[in-house]
Amino acid sequence: MEKQIAIVTGAANGIGKAISQRLVADGLFVLLVDVDPISGNKTLAEIGTDKAAFYLTDISDESQVKALFQSIEKSYGQIDVLVNNAGIIRDNMIWNMDSADFDLVIKINLKGSWLMCREAARIMKQQKAGRILNISSRAWMGNKGQTNYSASKAGIIGLTRALALELGPYNVSVNAVAPGLIDTALTKELKKEVLEKLVGAQPTKTMGKPEDVAHMVSFLVSPHTNFITGQTIYVDGGKSIGAGI
Ligand SMILES: NC(=O)c1ccc[n+]([C@@H]2O[C@H](COP(=O)([O-])OP(=O)(O)OC[C@H]3O[C@@H](n4cnc5c(N)ncnc54)[C@H](O)[C@@H]3O)[C@@H](O)[C@H]2O)c1
Repeated sequence: MEKQIAIVTGAANGIGKAISQRLVADGLFVLLVDVDPISGNKTLAEIGTDKAAFYLTDISDESQVKALFQSIEKSYGQIDVLVNNAGIIRDNMIWNMDSADFDLVIKINLKGSWLMCREAARIMKQQKAGRILNISSRAWMGNKGQTNYSASKAGIIGLTRALALELGPYNVSVNAVAPGLIDTALTKELKKEVLEKLVGAQPTKTMGKPEDVAHMVSFLVSPHTNFITGQTIYVDGGKSIGAGI
């Protein structure tokens, strides 16, 4: 295929949808991967079947991930970009958290991204070209009620750094983007008073938009970033600076 092929996970909604729309605007053909068929097909209809395709896949299921890559290789013969964006939250203070909610968050956010990276790495290593972008979170530094989520997103940063070392000699870059508070369905799950407190603690006193993350992803997967790998870039309205006021 003449166009570059990008896989975006969690592409049906929120940040993943904005990333997909942005990469399509950049001229890439985008493979939208998600477990939500209704939103996935809606997003595909909005983007257009000449610019994207939808794959119903649970990234935490090893056999589904393998089947996905087999199908993509057969149809397109190349993978230029992988954006690991799919993720969930199951918040609670640790003393109220079920171990099932710890397992699920790690399984989807961390292991799912690792499974996708492994299959993409095998192909990109052979191609001697590729860009992998993992969506972490500013929350990897720690958030009350998110021991499971923070651990999964810290894991994403370790995965990114280790994989950057492994794939560096093969002209494949691996970077992470760590968004802060972004206005999506995920943050709408938060209680109103919690959200107000979080916005109040932002240096910018605002939430970000999915497009703010999409612009950074667009830059990092572009040809202008040949010498950037293993990095975590914050898109968080300055929250990671850590200043209290
Ligand atoms: N919204 C924020 O404030 C924020 C901040 C930091 C990081 N993030 C991260 O950004 C990413 C996207 O978040 P969002 O706010 O757009 O969330 P969202 O809930 O709006 O969208 C997440 C998408 O992932 C899909 N998904 C969930 N489990 C999946 C699975 N097993 N396989 C495939 N797809 C799956 C969902 O169906 C959904 O379409 C997540 O990794 C999240 O942790 C979000």
